[in-house]
Amino acid sequence: MTTDPFALAEASAAALRGQTGAESFDAAVVLGSGWLAAADALGTTVAEISLADLGGFAQPSVKGHAPSVRYIRMGKLHILAYLGRIHLYEGHDPNAVTHGVRTAVAAGCRTIVLTNAAGGINPAFGVGQPVLVSDHINLTGRSPLTGPLPPQVPSRFTDLTEVYSGRLRAMARELDPALPEGVYAGLPGPHFETPAEIRMLRTAGADLVGMSTVMEAIAARHLGAEVLGISLVTNPAAGLSQEPIDHKDVLAAAREPAARVGSLLAELLPRG
Ligand code: 6GU
Repeated sequence: MTTDPFALAEASAAALRGQTGAESFDAAVVLGSGWLAAADALGTTVAEISLADLGGFAQPSVKGHAPSVRYIRMGKLHILAYLGRIHLYEGHDPNAVTHGVRTAVAAGCRTIVLTNAAGGINPAFGVGQPVLVSDHINLTGRSPLTGPLPPQVPSRFTDLTEVYSGRLRAMARELDPALPEGVYAGLPGPHFETPAEIRMLRTAGADLVGMSTVMEAIAARHLGAEVLGISLVTNPAAGLSQEPIDHKDVLAAAREPAARVGSLLAELLPRG
């Protein structure tokens, strides 16, 4: 068995083609906590495949993250929607966390949509607000580009000047001019932050805080795919409200706005 993460992604992409009968895919959507309602709005589900049948996937262990990927037809487009994601805090390494994105790119996807549930640091963002990720601050201390890299993949010294496509963000704002943008701070978790940490993040320029997305965005950019990041603010970050932060509330707050963002993606992705 190979341990080359790029060869593993090629093998999973071949399994996806075999099990769906689709020759190639156009875009992939990774659904964050509570984002399941977005999948139903994307288009017509052709098949739902267990990640266990594709090889190379660690199993998501978090409530709200199903271990499967949907093959969805959106007009002429072939879309992959990962109903669950793998997080660093589950004990998986960055290669496991990014396997779905690498598989999607190997299967032909040139667009990767990364969604997440985030704490709101910018006080302008209320609970239930979708926010376009304009940039990130990777505070995980990790990168998916360390370790052996086969010679046929692009250089590991990836330019991150525009991780989150300005073009795709502009298209999203054409459809919904009220969509704000913000900087996402990606932390390893799984605990939430202290109020002092949130004050530090705010001073550092972060508007949102979460435990995902940054590894996948880096892996997608490394392979030249265009990335759209969308956060749903599910709660104010620590110290910004009297309420304790609860993962159940995170899931509940995301449902209705997630469906609306799913419809927006169904309009946006066919425009290329
Ligand atoms: Cl407040 N922090 C982090 N790290 N992740 C979150 C969150 C907060 N709210 C939802 N996800």
